[in-house]
Amino acid sequence: MINPVHDHENHSHTRRSFLKTTAAGTALATAALSGLPRSLFAAEQKSAVTFSPLPYPENSLEPYMSAKTLHIHHDKHYRKFVQQVQSRVKNSKYSNASLETIIKGTSDGINMEEALHLMAVLAWNHDFYWKSMKPKGGGPLPNQLEKTVTGTFGSVDAFKKQFKEAAMQFGSGWAWLVLDKGKPVVTYTRYHDSPLVAGQQPLLTLDTWEHAYYLDYQDRKEEYVDAFINHLANWSFAESMLPAPEKKDK
Ligand SMILES: [Fe+2]
Repeated sequence: MINPVHDHENHSHTRRSFLKTTAAGTALATAALSGLPRSLFAAEQKSAVTFSPLPYPENSLEPYMSAKTLHIHHDKHYRKFVQQVQSRVKNSKYSNASLETIIKGTSDGINMEEALHLMAVLAWNHDFYWKSMKPKGGGPLPNQLEKTVTGTFGSVDAFKKQFKEAAMQFGSGWAWLVLDKGKPVVTYTRYHDSPLVAGQQPLLTLDTWEHAYYLDYQDRKEEYVDAFINHLANWSFAESMLPAPEKKDK
């Protein structure tokens, strides 16, 4: 389990990032003054893993998700996961690697790499979760996604029922619509698990950790899941994740 976010840790990371940035800036300024090429300072390059801004305003998912929930979730929890990855890949073979590369490369979960794997999964999953929602979401599925889903589940309602059942599993985790060997599948991963490790292509995810909904719904998790499916889910994003042949053939 990941511990709850503690402000002092964020402040500590922010301060360290500031000091690092300041040190790098000073080095570059020194290089410019001395005429040394900037490539000499390549070791100062930042991680390829970055903190993604929300794709919509914090209050734009109300009344189904409050600005307060989204702010704490994105700016505190998610920021910590990204900072943890950035900190752990420093001076390692993953210093310039993407989250996907880190997740797949550390999936054995051994020794020092285990914590990096967990943090990388959480950073990736959350980034995908922000994109899986939008203001005025829910509603009918776009044409290509509807055909893909209906072809496997029989109907959109049957797909949504399976997705809800996955999301309602007890404990902290993630409900997913993924492509598995090209076929749409509803799945559920616990805690810090990723469908990427199983070679699946995520299309949409719902965060079912309590921090995602407790301020707004307390113990009424089912209301949160229904609100996501009916008012927040970004079906257009899910459709955009279908591979090109899937879109073309349907
Ligand atoms: Fe979360």
